[in-house]
Amino acid sequence: MRRFFHLKRRVEASPNAEGRLKHIAFIMDGNGRWAKKRGMPRSYGHAAGASNFRKIIEYCGSIGIGAVTVYAFSTENWKRPREEVDAILKLFTDYLSEAEKSFSEKDICVRFLGSKAVFPAPLRERMEALERASTGKRQRLNIAVNYGGRDDIVHAVNALISEGKTTVTEEDITSHLYTSESPPPDLIVRTGAERRISNFLLWEMAYAELYFTEVLWPDFDERQVDLCVKDFYERKRRFGGL
Ligand code: FPP
Repeated sequence: MRRFFHLKRRVEASPNAEGRLKHIAFIMDGNGRWAKKRGMPRSYGHAAGASNFRKIIEYCGSIGIGAVTVYAFSTENWKRPREEVDAILKLFTDYLSEAEKSFSEKDICVRFLGSKAVFPAPLRERMEALERASTGKRQRLNIAVNYGGRDDIVHAVNALISEGKTTVTEEDITSHLYTSESPPPDLIVRTGAERRISNFLLWEMAYAELYFTEVLWPDFDERQVDLCVKDFYERKRRFGGL
């Protein structure tokens, strides 16, 4: 009960007090540069990025953001050196182990966006088990691994074809994407100074607000979240109307 009141106070005092920001998505860029600045290997930056991910997810939940999506590993990231790919996937499996232990107490429903077919069967089964076990929980956490926005659209269309459709509607595609259970993102944040979308949530971002910051992902803290939420509230969203 105390925790509930504590959280309620946080939401009321936060820039998201009106609850208009329902879904935030992050392109967690800049881990490599963060490590380089410290004379450390890129994998050190990814480890710092993974711990920051935990902190930011928690904070977003505490200020009443119901859905968070993170871009952890793209379909293009396989082109990186083997050592780096292995380091990122290791961080991911470490998080999976941690979630398996702690998620029963948390109110988080996790979904992995992207095809799981590339992963070894035991890992795939663990991902699916976590998805099943967390179904129905309140806060949505979408983790994009082996994810590409184009790949998702193709995957949705193929699913529709296999259901026998010969023409499709926007609703058909939306409901067959990996994100089908989440509202569309209100705000997409990219850290690390680049101003591009890099094949992330291509369909879903139609009316998303975009926020780019030079802050590198491991340095992106709660205060930075508040800044982007504040910026979001200053935007006029018209969704194509006047
Ligand atoms: C982009 O930075 C970051 C990635 C490709 C990987 C992001 C992965 C994590 C933060 C860890 C994921 C783990 C969990 C638990 C979800 P970059 O390497 O492109 O940085 P750079 O542009 O500075 O080189």
